[in-house]
Amino acid sequence: MNLTVNGKVYSFEAEPDMPLLWALRDILDIKGPKFGCGAGLCGACTVIIDGQAVRSCQIPAADVTSEIRTIDGLANNDGTLHPVQQAWMDEQVAQCGYCQAGQIMNAVALLETNPQPSDADIDGAMAGNLCRCGTYPRIRAAIKRAANEMAGT
Ligand code: FES
Repeated sequence: MNLTVNGKVYSFEAEPDMPLLWALRDILDIKGPKFGCGAGLCGACTVIIDGQAVRSCQIPAADVTSEIRTIDGLANNDGTLHPVQQAWMDEQVAQCGYCQAGQIMNAVALLETNPQPSDADIDGAMAGNLCRCGTYPRIRAAIKRAANEMAGT
């Protein structure tokens, strides 16, 4: 099986029905996507494929032919954070943090398709990413901050 993750090509052996999340975490040692519910309901495992936020627990790794982006590859090589990551830091979004890699990847996918989302756009796009700590108001603020930063305002 071959996967391209964050610009790097990996070749490995795996069962054909292995979920992408398992392949990323257990074989490739890419730990950004988290196991939450295992049923596509919480968003902790969110990655980006073809510009879309995807629940990596729900798709077989063997079905993925496009590049996979995870939070592990979001920052620049020099360590500069992606504007969404920086906004998360500036707004001090995380509480326990478990859901936040998935939240951030979902937010990146949103801003790449809708650079200036309204409150309703944010709520709609982020509704499938659950946070048991209730950080939703800070997530919304961070997305707005990142949108302004990315727009240069
Ligand atoms: Fe704890 Fe979201 S920060 S689940």
